[in-house]
Amino acid sequence: MTIKPVILETLPPDLDKQRLPQHVAVIMDGNGRWAKQRGMPRIMGHQRGVDSLKNLLRCCDDWGISALTAYAFSTENWGRPLEEVEFLMTLFERVLRRELKEMMAENVRIRFVGNLTSLPRSLQDEIARSMEDTKNNTGIRFTVATNYGGRQEIVHVCQAIAREVQGGKLDPETIDEGVVEKYLYTEGLSHPDLLIRTSGELRISNFLLWQMAYAEIYVTSTLWPDFDRQAFHLALRDYQQRQRRFGKV
Ligand code: FPP
Repeated sequence: MTIKPVILETLPPDLDKQRLPQHVAVIMDGNGRWAKQRGMPRIMGHQRGVDSLKNLLRCCDDWGISALTAYAFSTENWGRPLEEVEFLMTLFERVLRRELKEMMAENVRIRFVGNLTSLPRSLQDEIARSMEDTKNNTGIRFTVATNYGGRQEIVHVCQAIAREVQGGKLDPETIDEGVVEKYLYTEGLSHPDLLIRTSGELRISNFLLWQMAYAEIYVTSTLWPDFDRQAFHLALRDYQQRQRRFGKV
């Protein structure tokens, strides 16, 4: 019998339940370096990265955080070697197929954001199926940014609004932040309160540019495959020491 560590299964007592971020976003960086350090091909890092993501999703759920958004593939990531891109596309599809049943059982509502129409057809089908099957789930909202770019999303919003104006359905004078929100890929989802980036890079790399306006940013040198509950605990402790002023005094 394996002894399961009870520690950190529930919210650590030094964290204030009332001051948890409702929505956490993650830039899962450092998979390649993690693999290289171990003399493995980069793809092994991505493979291990899936386990970290799965663990974080479960941890958010266990600790009472209602939304998690992960940056899985950026519009710039097409510039990686072809074998790595193909591996990632196949990995996303395989993981989705494998995990769907469990996500249903755990009441997870999954959603993909990004320019999904240029993904491989079979992946698009799997994405559509996972979103359809989980759409009435009421548990944690899990959003995966795939072929996502913040600037691209803003262009998409501009085009959609321009079409409405052209069709006479929208008066330009009535366009405000609320209207823009309606056309974002993340429509209906609260903005991230906390952005975590692993592997030490101090950038937001075109992730959720509009939505991240007032997110607290936490960067750790831990590489993504090593990001576990302890590391998340530290991020939340740091977050709870911040004073969020939203531009006020
Ligand atoms: C960045 O590390 C990581 C990625 C571009 C891929 C992240 C994807 C996953 C962890 C899989 C998620 C799976 C699903 C189904 C959502 P890097 O390769 O840039 O690392 P490096 O900076 O060390 O090279």
